Amino acid sequence: MCGIVGYVGKRDCTDVLINGLSKLEYRGYDSAGIAVFNKNQKIEVAKSKGRLQNLVDKMNADGKPMGNAGIGHTRWATHGEPSDVNSHPHSGGRVTIVHNGIIENYKEIKDYLTDKGVSFASDTDTEVAAKLLDYNYNGSPIKTIMDTIRSLEGSYALGIIFADHPNVVYAVRKESPLIVGVGEGESFIASDVPAVLEYTKDYYLLEHEEIAVLDNNGVKIFDSFGRPIQKELKTADWDVEAIGKGGYEHFMLKEIHEQPTAIRNTIKPRIKDGLPNLEECGITPQVLREFRQIFIVACGTAMHAGMMGKYVVEKLAGVPVIVDIASEFRYRDPIVGEGDLVIIISQSGETADSKAAMHLAKEKGAKTLAIVNAMGSSIAREADMLIYTHAGPEIAVASTKAYMVQIAVMYLFAFEMALAVGKIDENECRRLVSLLEKTPDMIENLLEHKETTQYIAATLINADSLLYIGRGLDYALSMEGSLKLKEISYIHSEAYAAGELKHGTISLINEGMPVIAVATQQALFDKTISNIQEVKSRGAKVILVCRDSYQPEQNTADMKFGLPDFDDMLMPMLAVVPLQLIAYYTSVHRGNDVDKPRNLAKSVTVE
Ligand code: M6R
Repeated sequence: MCGIVGYVGKRDCTDVLINGLSKLEYRGYDSAGIAVFNKNQKIEVAKSKGRLQNLVDKMNADGKPMGNAGIGHTRWATHGEPSDVNSHPHSGGRVTIVHNGIIENYKEIKDYLTDKGVSFASDTDTEVAAKLLDYNYNGSPIKTIMDTIRSLEGSYALGIIFADHPNVVYAVRKESPLIVGVGEGESFIASDVPAVLEYTKDYYLLEHEEIAVLDNNGVKIFDSFGRPIQKELKTADWDVEAIGKGGYEHFMLKEIHEQPTAIRNTIKPRIKDGLPNLEECGITPQVLREFRQIFIVACGTAMHAGMMGKYVVEKLAGVPVIVDIASEFRYRDPIVGEGDLVIIISQSGETADSKAAMHLAKEKGAKTLAIVNAMGSSIAREADMLIYTHAGPEIAVASTKAYMVQIAVMYLFAFEMALAVGKIDENECRRLVSLLEKTPDMIENLLEHKETTQYIAATLINADSLLYIGRGLDYALSMEGSLKLKEISYIHSEAYAAGELKHGTISLINEGMPVIAVATQQALFDKTISNIQEVKSRGAKVILVCRDSYQPEQNTADMKFGLPDFDDMLMPMLAVVPLQLIAYYTSVHRGNDVDKPRNLAKSVTVE
């Protein structure tokens, strides 16, 4: 949701904070701010509505705080509109804080403090937390933090500085993620590892209600009773290049190109002697045979990967799979329990609804399996079984490579389950695995021919609305294609099962309305072509994504993106690439901020 950073060391603190925030801007970008202890040991604050660059411009004009310790924030508004006054840091007098999360009982606390004569300048829950810390302040920062967090309900990662403790940064978290980076004579706090990677790869994962103290002597960590604790120092395996644009114009385009490598890194360690092997993730054939049904619970793109998983697992393994949107699952009292497997798919591993859905599944006695990209994230740590996807850091808000590896894992899982329950034999399983291993090379080839997608995108830029249609796996894929387009191009679009159109939606079709038809499944091909003709004859402009070998008759398609011949089941891994590129180039043609689309944030840690 929001990104927070903090620094104590010898470097120019403002530069370190701004640099760290630039790596976290994907988490929120409607305002930014920093608070730094200046050379006179006084706290100096600079903040501005809008992108981080606005803050930089403001400091270039007005002068920047100079010092060696401070905290910073990039915001995705929850309480109070994006504005200078609602930007973090917020001050409560002697205490200044940055916050990621939501203080659910902020209204109650605000009323309590107002009765005590405390006044508020902003509409934020964060200012309430800052004022409460100040109200409780008794000269001992750790004791004050311990006392204050007992009154806070909801989620928070807080970076805190106290005016009378110069050059010391305090941090505490509950639910919202926070890491503590440890460098040579310097230390950091951050919402995510990429913010500190340029300075250090070593970090601690702060657990619920642990308190970190960063000063010129290093880092100390205390439990919620104020007792010092020793924690395992982790080392990030991402390098600095992984978080740069590497010569691409946008992170999204870079990440689309990283998909072949991401697939190789994800599947290779899970294939032994040509067969899937998920033992190191806690998944064995015996374990798989125990499940009577599977739920896949996730949000957005990750949920679309789950849809793909449903088709593949049901088809290959014959085990029923229910796909649920996490925000629905958690409140619909699902009939789930012992003997069920609940798979949670999440790039960030921090999505609030997915996390809550996982907790509910555990409470009801189901086993949970997390498919997660972000190492050490909450979902990864709390699930019973875990498969990490190795996509590397995904910075663009629109998910591409994370989706690709989520579906690659779903394939491997389906192959292993089908073998475990005896629905396929070893030979068939080896054949499927070897096909999956071929996908990175095939995607590399596709990425060499992007011109058609650029051309298709150019024809979409003035569209008001469009439809994506497909059947079976192509329907699951259409949902992802449609989401990708709308989130970054701001063109309205819907995905429909092709056979469902005539039950109402076809009335939307008018002269020239673009319809992107995905038709990669041979068994369903003729059926989809009939549906295409239905929309074509009503004036739709049809863009067909299908095998290159198919030559559309006149009156079937206006444009075609041709895919190589490949096994039907794995076709979606190829077909998603043109859909991603069409969305990307449409957004570029419309002059949008591709990597940071409006109103969105990469990691949705609130309900
Ligand atoms: O981090 P997660 O995978 O749990 O995130 C889920 C969705 O918020 C995410 O996939 C979102 O839909 C993307 N912006 C889509 O591109």
